[in-house]
Amino acid sequence: MAKKQSILVIDDEEAIRRSLDRILTFEGYKVVLASNGTLGLNLALQEEPDLVLLDIKMPKMDGLEVLQTMIQQGTQAPVVMISGHGTVQTAVEATKLGAFEFLEKPLDRDRLLLVVRNALERKGLQDENRELRQEVSERHQMIGQNHMLNGLKERIDRVAPTNATVLICGESGTGKELMARRLHQMSGRRGRFVQVNCAAIPQDLIESELFGHVKGAFTGAVENQAGKFQLADKGTIFLDEIGDMTLKTQAKVLRALQESEIEPVGAGKTIAVDVRVISATNKRLEELISQGEFREDLYYRLNVVPLESVPLDLRRDDIPALIEHFAQRFAAENNLPQPDFSAHALKKLCQRTYKGNIRELKNLVERMAILGEDYVLDDDAANKALASPVDFGIYETLKEFKEDTERKFLIAKLRQFEGNISRTAEAIQTPRSNLYKKLEHYTINVERDLAD
Ligand SMILES: Nc1ncnc2c1ncn2[C@@H]1O[C@H](COP(=O)(O)OP(=O)(O)OP(=O)(O)O)[C@@H](O)[C@H]1O
Ligand SMILES: [Mg+2]
Repeated sequence: MAKKQSILVIDDEEAIRRSLDRILTFEGYKVVLASNGTLGLNLALQEEPDLVLLDIKMPKMDGLEVLQTMIQQGTQAPVVMISGHGTVQTAVEATKLGAFEFLEKPLDRDRLLLVVRNALERKGLQDENRELRQEVSERHQMIGQNHMLNGLKERIDRVAPTNATVLICGESGTGKELMARRLHQMSGRRGRFVQVNCAAIPQDLIESELFGHVKGAFTGAVENQAGKFQLADKGTIFLDEIGDMTLKTQAKVLRALQESEIEPVGAGKTIAVDVRVISATNKRLEELISQGEFREDLYYRLNVVPLESVPLDLRRDDIPALIEHFAQRFAAENNLPQPDFSAHALKKLCQRTYKGNIRELKNLVERMAILGEDYVLDDDAANKALASPVDFGIYETLKEFKEDTERKFLIAKLRQFEGNISRTAEAIQTPRSNLYKKLEHYTINVERDLAD
């Protein structure tokens, strides 16, 4: 059941307090009563009610003074002033100061409830917005102080409010999506941030995904459906993995960009949209162009402002801060105490290479937090985590995946048996000769690779 909303009534007249208490309690609100301004102010600050009903004319501390102090102290609750005969002028002033609304005595029950509902609704929206903003900005923070990253952040913040089309290039896991979200967040555009993963949508559906379709346009189109471009109206569309778009779709996207309008599949007419386009890729589009797989004219349209993400290898000084950030976030999101990584494990994390960039580092930190007993990472857990593949996405080919995994597996097992080839071979059930062959193939040196 939802928590009862609480209303604080501050009025020196007992009859008014009693009648408000009766009406509001009957409506299901939790009511707190205060018979003077000082008491009311204390309750407002301590109890954090959802709404305050505040009488203007009271002995000693009057309503206006209470209101001013509440605002100064940063109280979140909306305040509805109650004005008696002769204080309407003051009530109007109070709304200028920040009161939500005022009610005149004698109080009318229906108007009272209407104003109360409106005020609470606005408070709800404000709370939600505040939480959302905080959540968004925390989740999409770009952690790091490296000079290249700082330069990049500055560029992002400079282009964000311009509506310019941005193309983000860079290796996998380097924060391209994060950059796109920051661009939208700082853009001031009121619409939504809509993401399209061009690689994940089947090619025969991508046109309808992007531009929508009308009922009956194709088998399965049972209803009119808006496309991503329409959903992103007045906002931002993020075309991720743009290098994976077919030439046919590229032509349609080009047209949408040129004309600022789109044509839903089967509609036979176009719709104007106001969309800011950000695209991203980890492929070299120039190469795709020379191979005839990417349209040059589209490339120029998308690449008005190019931004390049920074590979983790070029900002290794940020690794400690990133570890701290991911550990903290993981703990907070899972309601766990923050893992206390050993100095040894931290050193290892800082020295390691990350082909999968920040994503690989993040996954590793989370894995360590889970594997570590009592969420304190010991070296054993670190070894286990380091010995297993972190993110399948970092591998391009099956061969690369198999070899990398096999190599890590062999090192971990050899470590377990302290470099003893016979015992290791026996444990992993392979002939010694084969293990030797593998060590040679992977250039694993027992002396060197097994030392910490
Ligand atoms: N500077 C940063 N600070 C904190 N977290 C980051 C940072 N950069 C990236 N991340 C995190 O790393 C992960 C990978 O980032 P993101 O998805 O943005 O990368 P990407 O470049 O889009 O990767 P891909 O090409 O594989 O799609 C995400 O969880 C993201 O939140
Ligand atoms: Mg991405």
